[in-house]
Amino acid sequence: MNTTATLTGLVTLLSTLAVLAGPVDTSKLPAPSARKDVTYAKDIKPLLDKTCIKCHGTEKQKGKLRLDSLAGILKGGEDGKVVKPADSAGSILVQNVARLGDKDNWMPPEDKGGPLTAEQIGLIRAWIDQGAK
Ligand code: HEC
Repeated sequence: MNTTATLTGLVTLLSTLAVLAGPVDTSKLPAPSARKDVTYAKDIKPLLDKTCIKCHGTEKQKGKLRLDSLAGILKGGEDGKVVKPADSAGSILVQNVARLGDKDNWMPPEDKGGPLTAEQIGLIRAWIDQGAK
């Protein structure tokens, strides 16, 4: 088999696997909080400081992602953007903390801390839906 055929086969296999894995079911996400004027500095940073910063701050940058500044969180990690302003359901960060999809992506990792509460996830969603300011 030549290289092109091998690569074509591989691409086909990978896209089949992606289809089988399916998109994450975002209907299972906790609803966004009704709070107004949610900001990173006031509402989100304190939450992330407690639950995420030890792996995504000055000491460690797991997944090349820093969550200790607004610029860092908007920049994203090794897989690109993790927050899509105005689209919380489509934001990888939200899907990861809500523990949708592949277990490898759950945050904090399953053996490293309990899941965020529905209220905390709702607050993050409201912040993103309000433009991630
Ligand atoms: C104990 C360490 C640890 C904690 C705590 C932790 N993470 Fe992570 N995080 C990781 C590791 C390791 C990866 C890389 C996973 C991978 O590449 O498969 C990662 C990757 C991510 C990614 C994907 C980055 C990318 O571009 O691929 C997001 C988003 C994320 N974490 C968000 C969070 C959030 C939000 C919190 C807090 C609620 C959190 N993490 C807490 C270890 C941690």
